[in-house]
Amino acid sequence: MTGPSASVATPDDWPEVVDLRTRVFVGEQGVPPEIEQDDRDATAVHVVSRGRAGGVAGRVVATGRLLLPGDGSRTAAIGRMAADISVRGLGHGAAVLAELHRQAALRGATAVELHAQVSARGFYERAGYTAVGPEYLEAGIAHVTMRRVLERPDADRVAGGQGSGAGRV
Ligand SMILES: CC(C)(COP(=O)(O)OP(=O)(O)OC[C@H]1O[C@@H](n2cnc3c(N)ncnc32)[C@H](O)[C@@H]1OP(=O)(O)O)[C@@H](O)C(=O)NCCC(=O)NCCS
Repeated sequence: MTGPSASVATPDDWPEVVDLRTRVFVGEQGVPPEIEQDDRDATAVHVVSRGRAGGVAGRVVATGRLLLPGDGSRTAAIGRMAADISVRGLGHGAAVLAELHRQAALRGATAVELHAQVSARGFYERAGYTAVGPEYLEAGIAHVTMRRVLERPDADRVAGGQGSGAGRV
C-alpha cells in the first residue's frame, strides 16, 4: 500500500486547516491564538493530507504552508507544518512537505528555508534539510533555521511525477 499523498488546499479546506493548526499549535504547544494565523495566510500556498481510515477518513490530518519569495530571491519559506496527534508517524507530514517542495519548484524556487522547532529537527533532516545558524526562541519555543535545495520541477516529472523527484523525502 502506498503512503499518504498531499495536495494543494481548496478554499473549502480552510476551516479544517484552521482547526488542525489551532489544535496543534495553540492547544498542544501554547502558541497565543492571536499569532497563529497571520496576514501571510491569505497569499500562502496551503497543502493538506487527508486521513485514509477510521474516524479521520477524508478529514484534513496534516497541513503546511508555502510563502513564495519576493524581491528577486529564489528561496521560498515553509511554515505551519502540523499533523494531527492521532496520525503522527504515518507519513502525512512527509507527504505535505513533499508537495510543498513540488509546489515551490513549480513556481520557480530553487531552495526552501524554514524555522524548525528543535524537537522536529530530525523530521526535516530526513527530508534533506540542513541546519544553518544557531538555535533561537520564537513564540517561546526553541527553533533553528533549516535549508534545503530543490530539484528542478522538470526533473521531478521525468522521474515519475508527483511524490517522486523533488517530492522525495
Ligand atoms: C513534525 C510533524 C509535522 C511530523 O509529522 P508526521 O506526520 O508525524 O511525520 P511523518 O510520519 O511524515 O515522518 C516522516 C519521517 O520523519 C520522522 N519524524 C517525524 N517526526 C519526527 C521528529 N519530531 N523528530 C525526528 N524524526 C521525526 C518519522 O519517524 C519519519 O521517519 P522515516 O521516514 O524514517 O519513517 C508532527 O510531528 C507535528 O505536527 N508535530 C507538532 C507540531 C510541530 O512540531 N510542527 C513543526 C513545526 S517546525
